[in-house]
Amino acid sequence: MRIAMVGSGYVGLVSGACFAQFGHDVVCVDKADDKIAQLRKGEIPIYEPGLDKLVADNVRAGRLAFDTGLAKAVGSADAVFIAVGTPTRRGDGYADLTYVYAAAAEIAEALSGYTVVITKSTVPVGTGREVARIIREARPGAEFDVVSNPEFLREGAAIEDFMKPDRVVIGVESSRARDVMAAIYRPLNLIQTPMVFTNIETAEVTKYAGNAFLATKITFINEIADLCEKVGADVHDVARGIGLDGRIGRKFLHPGPGFGGSCFPKDTLALAYTAREVDAPQTIVEQVIAVNNARKKHMAHKVIEFCDGSVAGLTVGVLGLTFKPNTDDMRDAPSLDIVPALQAAGARIVAFDPEGMKEAARLLPGLAFAKTAYDAATGADVMVVITEWPEFRGLDPRRLKQLMRQPRIVDLRNIFNPEEMRGLGFTYEGVGRPQPRG
Ligand SMILES: NC(=O)c1ccc[n+]([C@@H]2O[C@H](COP(=O)([O-])OP(=O)(O)OC[C@H]3O[C@@H](n4cnc5c(N)ncnc54)[C@H](O)[C@@H]3O)[C@@H](O)[C@H]2O)c1
Repeated sequence: MRIAMVGSGYVGLVSGACFAQFGHDVVCVDKADDKIAQLRKGEIPIYEPGLDKLVADNVRAGRLAFDTGLAKAVGSADAVFIAVGTPTRRGDGYADLTYVYAAAAEIAEALSGYTVVITKSTVPVGTGREVARIIREARPGAEFDVVSNPEFLREGAAIEDFMKPDRVVIGVESSRARDVMAAIYRPLNLIQTPMVFTNIETAEVTKYAGNAFLATKITFINEIADLCEKVGADVHDVARGIGLDGRIGRKFLHPGPGFGGSCFPKDTLALAYTAREVDAPQTIVEQVIAVNNARKKHMAHKVIEFCDGSVAGLTVGVLGLTFKPNTDDMRDAPSLDIVPALQAAGARIVAFDPEGMKEAARLLPGLAFAKTAYDAATGADVMVVITEWPEFRGLDPRRLKQLMRQPRIVDLRNIFNPEEMRGLGFTYEGVGRPQPRG
């Protein structure tokens, strides 16, 4: 199959490279000239484990190429994927579909022969029909079908997720387009990946329902963590105790500073908006949004209370800035709430993040960056763990204690063992862990 991928960000680039690995001929297109120039030089504009090798291998094999304009790639494609951004629209929380519709209009101009146009971007229900309308209006004679194929990959594990997904959801309404989609995903069929074929609306709703459910699960365990802190229970044991129930499952039951990232915040908002518009309000999701926003704001107070009510004049060492480990993505990261609030309260922040510091330097003014986690600890009056990068789990607490001015840690991801840390003389607070008695 010949595939054009319109938008070469986290989703487009990973999907394009993986489709090439499946054996298809793929052209990844992006409007951002600098991204395409980097990719053509063999550089990867984002951090995603394994992506550099996957891209290099497939470029070398002649199956993956890059372009700044879509005309050539779309003109010769069997399938065109739209993987552009759908950020939150300013003002009302709905998804901003400007990029999707602009891409659809451009694609319409370039179509040649029967082509399947697929939205991989996360788009509110109804968008697929609108994409079809835009193309039909611009090119009444064009032979095409529109398909919805939402993407469920997670940043940080994107290649594995794409190559071995739990399922593929495909909203398709013609047998011709269904055959094209089946051919594209044939390698996954061979490993018996469940394919969920639906109508277009169902596929669009499925993506939002999935993300809203996961955001709800995180928010649920965060509130249970608050309860645990008040009553001397340990949220980790509670999570294990309920997670071993097969109806609940153990994933997404890790308490923390609130969910962030490029998907959950904007997708929960867009779902709530869509649902209100059609008079089917999603009150649970609305509550999740409110609780999560409040939680992210509250985390700085947690640190301040931990420091006896003031961080004025203190040096706070921050470990982790990205919204989760193994990505450089800072979109809606809890650090964007926590760090400025601590700065406003008079703290000096020294932060370390393995991949996020370049983007953080743009988003968080007045921050000092350390070269290593130990450098961030040096002279700190308190450390705050915001992102659970695997390498932080291996830090030597004795060395941290030697380097810090005061051995105090607020561990918003529960990466350390409270008993061990307290045994070593740290004043330590995690999330949802029992406080020492007495
Ligand atoms: N990031 C994730 O983990 C993830 C997971 C599942 C789904 N999604 C969804 O996938 C979509 C893309 O997300 P992302 O994180 O890859 O976004 P991104 O911002 O990283 O990438 C989008 C890219 O599209 C390009 N673009 C915009 N308009 C274009 C046009 N007309 N022609 C060519 N290129 C154009 C931009 O320059 C940008 O590089 C969103 O709808 C998102 O919700 C994201």
